[in-house]
Amino acid sequence: MTDSPIVRDNTSMLVEEALTLAGKALGDRREGQYLVAAFLDIGLADLLAHPERPITDESGFRRWLEERAEGKPLAYLSHRQDFFGRTFYIDERALIPRPETELLVEEAISLAQKMYQGDCTIADIGAGSGCIAITLALELPHARLWATDLSASALEVARKNALDHAVESRITFLEGDLLDPLPGPVDLLVANLPYVSSTWLAGEPSIAFEPRQALDGGEDGADLLRRLLLLLPLYLRSSGSALLEIGEEQAFLAEWAQEHLGGTAAIVPDLAGKPRLMRLRT
Ligand SMILES: C[S@@+](CC[C@H](N)C(=O)[O-])C[C@H]1O[C@@H](n2cnc3c(N)ncnc32)[C@H](O)[C@@H]1O
Repeated sequence: MTDSPIVRDNTSMLVEEALTLAGKALGDRREGQYLVAAFLDIGLADLLAHPERPITDESGFRRWLEERAEGKPLAYLSHRQDFFGRTFYIDERALIPRPETELLVEEAISLAQKMYQGDCTIADIGAGSGCIAITLALELPHARLWATDLSASALEVARKNALDHAVESRITFLEGDLLDPLPGPVDLLVANLPYVSSTWLAGEPSIAFEPRQALDGGEDGADLLRRLLLLLPLYLRSSGSALLEIGEEQAFLAEWAQEHLGGTAAIVPDLAGKPRLMRLRT
């Protein structure tokens, strides 16, 4: 018989007890499982296979549970969020990377490869945790990147992630408003700027823990996108492209952009068929 890797301790709370407690406190068995697994830094299968595993730091676990029950996102407790197959550090200084943003990254990689064989300059505007710029740096080893954000503290998170993923020398992080900090025009511009309407945001408790500046897009959610679009001609090289993440309500911007800027603007839907990206060519 092989030794169990689990150290037994009669005084510790066990996983099975933690699961019952968390399931009740969160009103959702699955959420409870995610919390316990994240606390122990193990996978769900491993967690469920060993209900007799002890939770040695019980007071730490109870603190997590309390904060989670108050609505704090799990990623802000575990300081980890997966994005495009990699794990990023995260805390309250930056928006938690969302799975829907992976579409922007996929499109950017495919555009960069098709148009420039990956050898191009890319700007990520509103970089937040840096998940987009860092993923592009890793997926496109010949690209040179700039990443901007109005929030100096979000950029600290992005710099940490760039160091963790060993791409800090490939990305220049710049603090400032939209495209202002860029040194010049780029081939490809990507942005996941705030596009949630202020009124919707006011009544939404689920995002109360995330920076408002990362979500609030003004009355119709399109304030920052409109401002960025008007600046685009100055910052895109000829035959350059921009890819902007949008919500369904901002799809009208494609027509607006064509009227105000010329070039071509197209909407790219997500897997559910809803408008998720706007692609612009000069
Ligand atoms: C929706 S979050 C996206 C963060 C990250 N790119 C991601 O996809 O997870 C938007 C980011 O835009 C930044 N931001 C808001 N207003 C800005 C502005 N005027 N100029 C530059 N960045 C801005 C916020 O600080 C925030 O980090």
